[in-house]
Amino acid sequence: MGLLTGDALFSVAVAVAVFLLLVDLMHRRQRWAARYPPGPLPVPGLGNLLQVDFQNVPYSFYKLQHQFGDVFSLQFAWTPVVVVNGLAAAREVLVNHGEDTSDRPQIPTQELLGFTPRAQGVIGAPYGPTWREQRRFCVSTLRNFGLGKKSLEQWVNEEAACLCDAFANHAGKPFHPNALLSKAVCNVIASLIYARRFEYDDSIGIRMTQLLEDSMREDNGLLLQVVNSMPLLLHIPWVAAKVLPAQRSIMALLKELLTEHNTAWDPDQPPRDLTDAFLTEVHKAKGNSESSFNDENLRLVVSELFTAGMVTTSITMSWALLLMILHPDVQRRVQQEIDEVIGQGRPPEMADQARMPFTNAVIHEVQRFADIIPMGVPHMASRDTEVQGFCIPKGTMLMINLSSVLKDETVWEKPLQFHPGHFLDAEGRFVKREGFMPFSAGPRTCLGEPLARMELFLFFTCLLQRFSFSVPEGQPRPSDRGILSFILAPSPYQLCALPR
Ligand code: HEM
Repeated sequence: MGLLTGDALFSVAVAVAVFLLLVDLMHRRQRWAARYPPGPLPVPGLGNLLQVDFQNVPYSFYKLQHQFGDVFSLQFAWTPVVVVNGLAAAREVLVNHGEDTSDRPQIPTQELLGFTPRAQGVIGAPYGPTWREQRRFCVSTLRNFGLGKKSLEQWVNEEAACLCDAFANHAGKPFHPNALLSKAVCNVIASLIYARRFEYDDSIGIRMTQLLEDSMREDNGLLLQVVNSMPLLLHIPWVAAKVLPAQRSIMALLKELLTEHNTAWDPDQPPRDLTDAFLTEVHKAKGNSESSFNDENLRLVVSELFTAGMVTTSITMSWALLLMILHPDVQRRVQQEIDEVIGQGRPPEMADQARMPFTNAVIHEVQRFADIIPMGVPHMASRDTEVQGFCIPKGTMLMINLSSVLKDETVWEKPLQFHPGHFLDAEGRFVKREGFMPFSAGPRTCLGEPLARMELFLFFTCLLQRFSFSVPEGQPRPSDRGILSFILAPSPYQLCALPR
């Protein structure tokens, strides 16, 4: 066949361009629907991808919120997105319309991690029976964690003691606390899933915490957005190889750990941990093709609990210690309350929390101020929905800007300052606040919240019972501005932990 030249080539190029423009317009037809939320004008093909700074999404959204209002629309290539800002709109979407807004957008790169119709984990699972089955399983296993020999509180308390010993080994000299915090939190999840902990110098434990931290950095960035918007790109081997390397390594490591763990599983014995409980369900579901209890899904669920539960909690603890060295007056008041309620003779326990309003307020304020998942986890509308007078069509991706809720100027007296008084009344009693939404809200709200709260309370009080924390002498005061990937982490800092 001869090559096209001249006029013929030009005509083909014009026809292809017109075809692509029509396809593009088709994917953007939502914008012309009545009462669709306003937003910046998208360009053909890329939509608004180049108008959002993926290195600082909260700031981009802050500017767009001021330009277009609390509910605005964007176009990520061919994916229509609606961003929801502020407490009133976020509650309306997550809680009032929770039944219609709790689906998840399909993320093509998840297939690289083993996502299939029968193995969808919990976090990424569509809002339906598979998600419900796994969510119920995780919630009840977390709640009834008396399945093993020890309760979850005992595991957390023992880990807190190990963490304190590791801090003491630094003998008051400056150190970065993050690695130790990550290992301690990783061990709590490992105890839940495998009924075991890793020594802090164990090579598998070190590799796991490193990969989990790296995996959080992978969830952001333009490449992932572009590939997920145009999944055809995943067929280019060098592109596929660049996507989610840490998350794939985690899956491989978990496979090894699960194989080792499963050889010791005895179906006739009571379950030792979440993995045993899951294997029992796999056993019961043999022959049921509808069930989501299968070996592939076990790996996904376990990896999600590790990724969702480890970095979130350890980064929050890192913020907590940073804010204590930046606000020594607050630190002293927490220690005073610890001395009055618990003393030095025994470790803290969850029952103490009710009698420690100031400490409770400080932990809540740490979470509000730190704002570690500013953009939440994306949702998707499973039906046409109306929010704040706007129509959100079925299939639209919803981004709930949790940061705009935690820093909402109409809700908080000092939104940009660390101010534990946000959670105290005039008599010093702890008060719950509706705008406190770091775990999100509605049917998809974080299922690990009770565990995270337990860890934050026990680790924080145990550390402040034993140590006073300070900025190392001669070092500048660290910044309280975070570094953003998917998670907002404090800039690296050192502290001194002096025994009390
Ligand atoms: C300070 C710690 C934590 C924070 C701030 C946090 C925050 C969140 C947020 C914002 C979501 C998204 C909710 C939504 O889609 O609207 C989420 C979901 C989730 N979190 Fe957490 N989380 C924390 C700790 C944990 C822990 C310790 C675990 C488990 C051990 C966990 C497991 C999950 C799971 C499985 C989901 C998905 C729920 C679903 O899709 O139904 N998280 N978390």
